[in-house]
Amino acid sequence: MRLFFCVELDAEAKERLGALIARLKPRCPDAKWVAPANLHLTVRFLGEVEEGRLGELEVLAGEVAREFAPFSLTLERLSAFPSPRRARVLWVGPAGDAGEFVALMRSVEEKVRRLGFRPEMKEPRAHVTLARFRVPRDLGRVVAEAGPKRPLRVEVRELTLMRSTLRPEGPIYTPIFRVPLGGS
Ligand code: 2AM
Repeated sequence: MRLFFCVELDAEAKERLGALIARLKPRCPDAKWVAPANLHLTVRFLGEVEEGRLGELEVLAGEVAREFAPFSLTLERLSAFPSPRRARVLWVGPAGDAGEFVALMRSVEEKVRRLGFRPEMKEPRAHVTLARFRVPRDLGRVVAEAGPKRPLRVEVRELTLMRSTLRPEGPIYTPIFRVPLGGS
């Protein structure tokens, strides 16, 4: 199973980001857009995992959930990885450092490493991917001009283990389990 940990977005957030995507589309003709239903805050991609390991992952998620009380995050900044001038991934995220979300990512990272998953080398960054580009694109003007009109507050209340089934039309995401933050 191809799996990743994420924080899901509520219907209103998906709708507002869907509207942002609709505004951005004419400016990024070669983008591969994320379907609004699939928008999420990335926590940790695990890749192919044997089904027999789901129990360990649920224990791990429970440990993480006990370390964090629910918190909120404000999505207000449009940017791109690795940089707006050579964009491969267009994303929205918090304007500041999103310390608590990054701490959540680090906690998951430390625990998945303990289970033997290969370390994620990328710096943890709170983000919702909106689009991907096969060929890097200069989006300097787009990110400067076309960001969210209003900040979007997102409540981080649970951690989800998501299964991704790849299809030519785009991935299908199926939640495997959700663990509420702040208690077991
Ligand atoms: P991204 O949005 O930052 O690309 C499903 O693709 C989720 O797994 C996304 O949140 C994606 O993060 C993440 N992910 C991380 N590494 C990945 C990889 N090598 N392939 C696919 N998805 C990856």
